[in-house]
Amino acid sequence: MKAAELFDLAGRVALVTGASSGLGLRFAEVLAANGAAVVLVARRAERLAAAQERIAAAGGRALAVPADVTDRAAMARAFAQAEKVFGTVTILVSNAGIAAAGRAVNMPEEDWRRVTAIDLDAVFFWAQEAARRMLEAKAQGAIVNIASILGLSAAKGVIAYAAAKAGVIQLTKGLAVELGSKGIRVNAIAPGFIPTDMNKGYLLSDLGKGMVRDIPLGRFGAPEDLDGALLLLASDAGRYITGTTLVVDGGQVVAIRG
Ligand SMILES: NC(=O)c1ccc[n+]([C@@H]2O[C@H](COP(=O)([O-])OP(=O)(O)OC[C@H]3O[C@@H](n4cnc5c(N)ncnc54)[C@H](OP(=O)(O)O)[C@@H]3O)[C@@H](O)[C@H]2O)c1
Repeated sequence: MKAAELFDLAGRVALVTGASSGLGLRFAEVLAANGAAVVLVARRAERLAAAQERIAAAGGRALAVPADVTDRAAMARAFAQAEKVFGTVTILVSNAGIAAAGRAVNMPEEDWRRVTAIDLDAVFFWAQEAARRMLEAKAQGAIVNIASILGLSAAKGVIAYAAAKAGVIQLTKGLAVELGSKGIRVNAIAPGFIPTDMNKGYLLSDLGKGMVRDIPLGRFGAPEDLDGALLLLASDAGRYITGTTLVVDGGQVVAIRG
């Protein structure tokens, strides 16, 4: 078996949330470059339109569908539009996310609710919708949820984000157990620190740069470092993998500082 064949996504329809920037934009481009038709979801319509154009210019197929992931009606519309243009979504990459910094004792209720609504609740509802539609179409598929190493280890100042990402890891397992017999695989990726709009202000500051010494591979990640994990979990190369969380972090989460 040739690698290109094993990882080929021709004929698949992928939907990526949070495709307007950072990791999600990269995921969409990589899926399209490997043959999938890709539906791009996020709130910033102009950025999605630019991504759609770039993917088309590179020979891929993409459709921009602006939506807020917390809006259930917009979610249903996004899947319906995807079906109309490309067919049933058989690869969902649930990547949209936000972070809110602040110590637990000071965290306003609205920060907790905003972060958990986007980073946890929406991940469940988009997976539920994708699975319902795959079941109805009798289609097999793959769901890839984007967690974080902060869902596996604790750090100061990110309590809502960390709790949401831990929830993503657990709901990934639960969905995998329920959907496996139907041919729907559900996995997660837990990236380490990758400078993007979400965190580059901090990571690229002197304080943030100091964190590199805790990363065995000696650098922060880059969006393209996740290409392999994404393609493995989304394609037939990962056909016997479900319920797992693949940590892609340069070894940070297993390292004890010393
Ligand atoms: N970068 C890292 O170090 C790192 C590490 C571990 C995990 N992650 C996870 O990776 C994912 C992507 O983050 P990133 O680093 O690429 O940050 P980013 O560049 O800020 O991207 C976040 C994406 O989520 C979208 N989004 C946020 N709220 C949304 C909403 N309510 N509805 C629809 N889309 C929404 C944003 O689009 P709009 O603003 O256009 O809606 C944007 O496309 C997140 O789940 C994050 O937790 C990142």
